[in-house]
Amino acid sequence: MEIIHVSAECYPVAKAGGLGDVVGALPKYQCKAGHIAKVVMPMYRTKFLYENEWTVDFKGSANLGNWYFDYTIIKEATNKLGFDLFLVDINGLLDRQKIYGYDDDSERFTAFQIATVSWMSSWEHQPDIVHCHDHHTGLIPFMMQYCYDFARLNRVPTVFTIHNAQYQGWMGWDKSRYIPRWDLWKRGMMDWADNINPLASGVKCASKVTTVSWSYMDELRYNSNGLEKLFEYERGKCVGILNGIDNEVWNPANDQYLSEHFSVKDVAKGKQKNKEALCKQFSLDPEKPLFVFIGRLVGEKAADILPDAVMSSIHNTQGNANFLILGSGDTNVEWQFQQMVEPFKGMFNAVIGYDETLSHIMYAGADFLLMPSRVEPCGLNQMYAMRYGTVPIVRSTGGLQDTVVDMGDPDGFGIRFNNASIFDVDYSIGRAVAVYQDKTQMEKMRKHMMQIDHSWESTVDQYTEVYAGLG
Ligand code: ADP
Ligand code: GLC
Repeated sequence: MEIIHVSAECYPVAKAGGLGDVVGALPKYQCKAGHIAKVVMPMYRTKFLYENEWTVDFKGSANLGNWYFDYTIIKEATNKLGFDLFLVDINGLLDRQKIYGYDDDSERFTAFQIATVSWMSSWEHQPDIVHCHDHHTGLIPFMMQYCYDFARLNRVPTVFTIHNAQYQGWMGWDKSRYIPRWDLWKRGMMDWADNINPLASGVKCASKVTTVSWSYMDELRYNSNGLEKLFEYERGKCVGILNGIDNEVWNPANDQYLSEHFSVKDVAKGKQKNKEALCKQFSLDPEKPLFVFIGRLVGEKAADILPDAVMSSIHNTQGNANFLILGSGDTNVEWQFQQMVEPFKGMFNAVIGYDETLSHIMYAGADFLLMPSRVEPCGLNQMYAMRYGTVPIVRSTGGLQDTVVDMGDPDGFGIRFNNASIFDVDYSIGRAVAVYQDKTQMEKMRKHMMQIDHSWESTVDQYTEVYAGLG
């Protein structure tokens, strides 16, 4: 099958979070399984763009309302990622440093979708599936079906994967002028609560909707930032497929970012060496358990309760634990963490920013990973942590609930709690500090986790099944 993934992110080209990881890995494993999977994404000014070779695949033009624009599709020349990668270049609109966060993001991603669909409709053949990811590509199923200029594509099946329903790409109806000539009777297929809602439109128009864990699929029906009724109504075409992880990128035995490699056999020794290097760099104590948080400092991740929860735990454990934070986001939370560095020197440190290398070293060197998320559609961090023998401490929600078994259960290996509250986090850290003293139990949990198979190889078939049902 020829599958065209359309996404705003794809690792290592451009990544802001887990969406990038998924779109960088799933197509690679689909190709390995015998499909022809390709990725189409915007051309941002990223390092990957400048360090690789490109060929021009297509030049076209389109309209965004009254604005006539030219676009160029460039293709990575060496199949470096294990699949064909196409970038859409729209001068002045997409070619910027950051992926998101501009005032004209609506215009940027609408133009990206128009250029992508316009290009695909110029092909001599038709792809078997167009697979869209999150709201930045949510209008594509609508455009393929109801825009007159793209009528050639109106029978191509579409899959829409929701990685995060909190962000929906809302636009006022005044922006409907951006959408190329469309069947006005179909207004309802773009609308939700009197706005153009690209996420809702993707759900309504796609042939099939998936999300990235089973529990999140259930949760969407009672907690999806206003779309609950839509998910209830469309439940028949929705399915949860748990994300995999790229075991080639995330492998403690040969991870390019680690100087000390390890595997299940020498996990305790290997982790200790990584931990010592990390503790030295951040003035922490390698004899004490090391707790880390890696991620966006936003409400969804419950980052707002972390500064107080950490301080409370430092107090309650009488300084018998270390904490290291890596993340950026809410400036207030960033500020609080920065303020804690000096007073808690020797047991706390924080790096505000995005650092891929450091994140790998932290998964390898930490004893415990904190994820108190209020919302977590899947969560990849806990799966990376597990692969590196780091015990996840998670709130029971979404994909965290689907992947982590509490150590109180037979064969359990993690710590789960119910509320995104200072008390629950602090209490869980207390449990972790206690189990850390039990070397046999720690060894058992680490070995167990590292052998759990979350590979894409074992997940790819579930997508194939979804596609096959649409043929
Ligand atoms: P989300 O996509 O909601 O942010 P996920 O758990 O799915 O959450 O994926 C987060 C990804 O982003 C992981 O690969 C994680 O290691 C990475 N990540 C998040 N914040 C940072 C950061 N500050 N530095 C490096 N990597 C980060
Ligand atoms: C989103 C979700 C995260 C998920 C990721 C990849 O960013 O917040 O939970 O793991 O997408 O699907």
